[in-house]
Amino acid sequence: MIRTILTYPDPVLKKKSTPVPVINDKIRELVRDMAETMYDAQGVGLAAPQIGVSQRVIVIDVSQKDEKPELIVCINPVIVHSEGESFEEEGCLSIPKYAANVHRHEHVVVKGLNLDGAELTYHAEGLLAIAFQHEIDHLDGILFVDHLSPLKREMFRKKYRRAVEEG
Ligand code: NI
Repeated sequence: MIRTILTYPDPVLKKKSTPVPVINDKIRELVRDMAETMYDAQGVGLAAPQIGVSQRVIVIDVSQKDEKPELIVCINPVIVHSEGESFEEEGCLSIPKYAANVHRHEHVVVKGLNLDGAELTYHAEGLLAIAFQHEIDHLDGILFVDHLSPLKREMFRKKYRRAVEEG
């Protein structure tokens, strides 16, 4: 089922999510809905809080349009190692019509559970590394605009307010 994506400044997006204690049918349904919602919105990632569920679940698919979809489901993800720097443009399904460059690590190692409860380790770089950092941030109530300098964040607030008013 496609769920409604919450948008800034919804307070749920600022909440810290709790770990998933057990992978049951409810979590499987949540993941199915998250993937469906992400693909419908043509996003490369989605975190559970974005559909109003404050639990530590993310889905990511960074495959290109002409490639086979490659869905990553990561439950209770943790970044165990990070290195290098990148500064690439990001957007977010919860902040429509806004993009900005964000400082991230170029390479991250992420551990988390898949839907079968198996612990997987991802060695991610480039867009996938950025997606992991962006989505895991969501689980801690952090949006990509929170990484902007104070001046840029103020510009974002003004611009976003205008965009919202113009519809
Ligand atoms: Ni996002």
